[in-house]
Amino acid sequence: MSIRIQPSILSADFVNLESDFGTITSADGIHLDIMDGHFVPNMTFGTGMVKRMQDISSLPLDVHLMIENPDHWAPKYAELGVFSVTVHFEACTGPIQLSKEIKALGSRAGLSIKPNTPVSVLRGLVHHFDQILVMSVEPGFGGQSFIESSLEKISEVRSLIDKDSPDTWLQVDGGIDLKTISAAAAVGADTFVAGSSVFGSSDRNGMIAQLRQAAEAAAPNM
Ligand code: DX5
Ligand code: ZN
Repeated sequence: MSIRIQPSILSADFVNLESDFGTITSADGIHLDIMDGHFVPNMTFGTGMVKRMQDISSLPLDVHLMIENPDHWAPKYAELGVFSVTVHFEACTGPIQLSKEIKALGSRAGLSIKPNTPVSVLRGLVHHFDQILVMSVEPGFGGQSFIESSLEKISEVRSLIDKDSPDTWLQVDGGIDLKTISAAAAVGADTFVAGSSVFGSSDRNGMIAQLRQAAEAAAPNM
């Protein structure tokens, strides 16, 4: 199992993104939170900004769509050449069709569930996706506390993945810091989004290294 650390720029300086990208060069990817003010009560940015980030980033871009109508919008992000596009199960009308469209455009396809959505909805879907994202906070804002009951859900998703689709990544997003990352890694998460813990640190690459070390120490089968 490989461990991946993806800082979320939700906690970055939105008017100095290019220089902030330069502070997280040891990350495995950059997590972009797209919010529309409808699916979640907050707004961020859209395809125009992501296109420019794709131009300047040397790291893979991981797009997390917290928006309504991902069936329409997700392909527009994949067309930009981003590394992965993750949609929410709760907002999606045709997840299997959408995964095919995203992959056909050259991006990896991800499917996410919110804290109150049971893991059972993912049955029969996991093998269509390159990553499953378990939200460990209510989507919408950075800096919230990790919801402890997410650990049980991560463990359930790990079982589904091991059974049906061992190459699918298991991503966790929300409240990941030096304490919570160990617990999430221990129950089978392999890909970690960290916003405030990385961007709130004065040594961001140092924090990424510490997070990676903590996850590797706790992960089974490392
Ligand atoms: C929340 C976003 C997260 C957020 C994580 O809706 O999906 O990616 O930026 O931020 P922290 O790590 O601060 O919880
Ligand atoms: Zn996110």
